[in-house]
Amino acid sequence: MSSRKFFVGGNWKMNGSKGELDNLVNLLAKNSSETEVVVAPPFVFLDYLHNKKTNFALSGQNCYKESKGAFTGEISPKMLKDVGADWVILGHSERRHVFGEKDDLIADKVAFALKEGLSVIFCIGEKIEERENNLTEKICFGQLGAIKDKIKDWSKIVVAYEPVWAIGTGKTATPEQAQEIHQALRKWLHDNISQDASNKTRILYGGSVTGANCKELAAKADIDGFLVGGASLKPEFANIVNSKN
Ligand code: 13P
Repeated sequence: MSSRKFFVGGNWKMNGSKGELDNLVNLLAKNSSETEVVVAPPFVFLDYLHNKKTNFALSGQNCYKESKGAFTGEISPKMLKDVGADWVILGHSERRHVFGEKDDLIADKVAFALKEGLSVIFCIGEKIEERENNLTEKICFGQLGAIKDKIKDWSKIVVAYEPVWAIGTGKTATPEQAQEIHQALRKWLHDNISQDASNKTRILYGGSVTGANCKELAAKADIDGFLVGGASLKPEFANIVNSKN
């Protein structure tokens, strides 16, 4: 049995309303699992959730690499903390591929968020053509490598492996495909960071996780939880939170 605490994140992306978040609070209120649960609603709802009694932590979906200033449309780690978020998602594939964020900027954001006291859900993953050309490890190792020299303490980082081809497509990586790359990522941590980071860093799987496929994925040795998009907006999120039970 792994000593890593099972972790389930709900990434609501640009979805939801106060009413829907109320439903989530009620749904998770009944949850008594040991799983660490973190929910990332759109920024504008963080304060609303912060003022409610919840049994899950809050995350931003992004933040900038500066504490304040003339950066229209951006928010800082300090602002996230001010409205109750302890976490931030960085490097998500939609930030990389829809908004064009590059490794360098993402690495600066990760380093700054950690420095400001946030924990980071750091996302990596390959596109379908990269997988088909056997580049999965090369791409994922490259994305991890981009933050390596800027990060000293890995204890506040959770890595989320989210193959781009599985996000929002209904096409999940098989448990075997996910385990294979998770194991390789853990070896990368061993070879490039430390034995301790390899043992302790949680590696999540993300990409079309549902109430129906979560148990089989959760049973794999190197899958320490999930980052969930679409299904985190639905009642089945409770089943995913409980997938390790
Ligand atoms: P889906 O679960 O909707 O595929 O999204 C995964 C994701 O991008 C979570 O960050």
